[in-house]
Amino acid sequence: MICGDLKGRKVLVTGASSGIGSAAAVLFSEQDCFIGVHYFRTPEGAKETFKQVKKNSDGILLYADVRDEKQVEEMVNQFAKEAGGIDILINNAGSLIDRQSFEKATLDYHENIYATNVRSIFLVTRAALPYLKKNKGNIVNIGSVAGHTGGASGSGMYSGAKAAVATETMSMAKEFAKYGIRVNSVLPGFIDTRFHERFSTARHRKEVAERTPLGRNGTAEDVAKAILFLASDAAGFITGEYIAVNGGSYMRA
Ligand SMILES: NC(=O)c1ccc[n+]([C@@H]2O[C@H](COP(=O)([O-])OP(=O)(O)OC[C@H]3O[C@@H](n4cnc5c(N)ncnc54)[C@H](OP(=O)(O)O)[C@@H]3O)[C@@H](O)[C@H]2O)c1
Repeated sequence: MICGDLKGRKVLVTGASSGIGSAAAVLFSEQDCFIGVHYFRTPEGAKETFKQVKKNSDGILLYADVRDEKQVEEMVNQFAKEAGGIDILINNAGSLIDRQSFEKATLDYHENIYATNVRSIFLVTRAALPYLKKNKGNIVNIGSVAGHTGGASGSGMYSGAKAAVATETMSMAKEFAKYGIRVNSVLPGFIDTRFHERFSTARHRKEVAERTPLGRNGTAEDVAKAILFLASDAAGFITGEYIAVNGGSYMRA
């Protein structure tokens, strides 16, 4: 990939035990970066990602519930200590958790969706900021096309949370520009990962592929490539922006 030289950059990827985060961790390791492979409930997935990373470069495994302030601070500080700083932060950890309608959703679900997808990015970014400032690093937040469209059935609150990710990406880009820190986001469309194995039927996955202009669902690797571009020097004058990776399923002027 023509993205400049990322060799030796210290890259913290949240939610690297599965799907998009795992693919991003491996892709950055192929550029000879030092990778923080973060996980929460799936240590076996994280170990598998780590094994792939070690084939190319080096890194460490990191545990934290990204909703928890103390765990996040410990995790970020551990990474910075062992890596010798932070150059790139990929705020990828997130989840739909469940499909729930506004009519029937519980308050716990509402709180959990925003804690998992929005509070998480605030906590990880705030903890990483002193290190990113030192290295004039950059941040890529993983939003969702659902944040623009309102999402599909039962994903309304998730969509709201991802809209907050899109807006806060712009706000962070403005606030951190004075430190030389760029902040961008990637908005995946329908990507075949554990996410849709859990929350969509096989029939729905096939229907989405058929109505997508490029004729298939996305892969975690499709999204990882856009993340890599935004995090690289090739995107050196891009901040507060997003790249939608969706095979043409959602276009706007
Ligand atoms: N797949 C899609 O179609 C799609 C579309 C739009 C946006 N996205 C977004 O893309 C990102 C990655 O999703 P994916 O498709 O790769 O899903 P995935 O395979 O289910 O991976 C989700 C990752 O997030 C981590 N995570 C979830 N809750 C966490 C918590 N409380 N604390 C720490 N880590 C947590 C998981 O870690 P553990 O398993 O170790 O707990 C896992 O590594 C998410 O932000 C998702 O919202 C996905």
